[in-house]
Amino acid sequence: MKAVVYSGAYDVAVQEVPDPRIEDPQDVIIKVTTTNICGSDLHMYEGRTNVEQGKVLGHENMGVVAEAGPAVKDFRPGDRVSVPFNVACGTCFNCTHGWTSFCTRTNPTEGVDGGAYGYASMGPYAGGQAEYLRVPFADFNLLALPQGTEYERDFTMLSDIFPTAYFGTDLAGVSPGDTVVVYGAGPVGLLAVHSAWLRGAARVFCVDMHGDRLSIAEKFGATPVSIAAGDPAEQVLDSTRGAGADCGVEAVGYQAHEPSGQERPELVLDWLVRSVRPTGRLGIIGVYMPQDPGAATQSAKDGRIGFDFGRLFQKGQALGTGQCPVKRYNEKLRDLIIAGRATPSAIVSHELPLTEAPAAYAKFDKRIDGYTKVILHPAA
Ligand SMILES: NC(=O)c1ccc[n+]([C@@H]2O[C@H](COP(=O)([O-])OP(=O)(O)OC[C@H]3O[C@@H](n4cnc5c(N)ncnc54)[C@H](O)[C@@H]3O)[C@@H](O)[C@H]2O)c1
Ligand SMILES: [Zn+2]
Ligand SMILES: [Zn+2]
Repeated sequence: MKAVVYSGAYDVAVQEVPDPRIEDPQDVIIKVTTTNICGSDLHMYEGRTNVEQGKVLGHENMGVVAEAGPAVKDFRPGDRVSVPFNVACGTCFNCTHGWTSFCTRTNPTEGVDGGAYGYASMGPYAGGQAEYLRVPFADFNLLALPQGTEYERDFTMLSDIFPTAYFGTDLAGVSPGDTVVVYGAGPVGLLAVHSAWLRGAARVFCVDMHGDRLSIAEKFGATPVSIAAGDPAEQVLDSTRGAGADCGVEAVGYQAHEPSGQERPELVLDWLVRSVRPTGRLGIIGVYMPQDPGAATQSAKDGRIGFDFGRLFQKGQALGTGQCPVKRYNEKLRDLIIAGRATPSAIVSHELPLTEAPAAYAKFDKRIDGYTKVILHPAA
């Protein structure tokens, strides 16, 4: 089959690789109908992870069951499904307590819990930017979708970024009437804005430096805040009579940078602490790494991010972070899509065949104007 493989920094290629096959009775093979490129893939693309050459990329996958192992009870060939990016066993302590993103069984990497498809340090699972994908523990992991092709562009956001964005607002404790600040107007930040409204926010700020992304945030009803126009924490404080937002979501990650491109991994965390009121909650869903050999300073190389913890203590804020347990949210978010209350497809900028993936990676990586979210159709 054809698949997108990592070939080195700034280099992905569409290659022929062996078809996946049933390896365990609980596996299914899905024929991928839609698979997305994620901001998380760009950390690998830029050579900022230890992902091995030849890895098939892609953790945002949906499709139709092609083959089901003999122990699979709930899914049959032809069923339409969304595949959470987490590979979870369903029976370990963390899985049974709702934390599928910290499954203790599916990731053999020393010291790391939680498996994922097509990702550095997340286990041996091939990704779904390919014609077919093997899904372990299928009964536990798969989410059933209505048959047909309706809502394909919305449902494809259920494998990762819609639940992840919603998780950010959950960690931040967004409640009816809240003023919320979201850092990052990438796909995850934009869907955090959407999620904040779903949870009843009264006002939402969205912070970034890219005008095209901030105008999408505005279409989602957010007040855009450009870091090019000055300190965003000051701007949020000024707009809230000095009080700050009630809570905040960070959807940027360890490659946070100045408008000049200079990386400063603590930059957004500092702004977040300053722009949220005392005792407010912070949902930090941008990715941070325990080792980052490509970082600018020795402490950042060791994953030590020197943000203003003193001010966080003084303000009595609480923070939550980590990989999203997709299964906790994807079913209800699916139903909000079907009910017409949620439209995560509004961020899709490009729909392309798999063969266009190398060019799409390069353009999305440069955040070229208009490249917000690329979805790929392997069968096209
Ligand atoms: N926790 C999880 O489970 C999970 C899941 C998916 C993605 N993520 C992470 O979420 C983050 C965002 O993902 P995405 O797909 O939206 O990526 P993205 O790279 O497209 O978006 C990040 C945005 O942050 C902006 N940004 C950079 N520096 C900034 C600064 N100083 N201030 C304000 N904005 C700044 C960029 O301009 C960009 O628009 C990534 O780190 C990704 O790895 C986490
Ligand atoms: Zn993703
Ligand atoms: Zn588990």
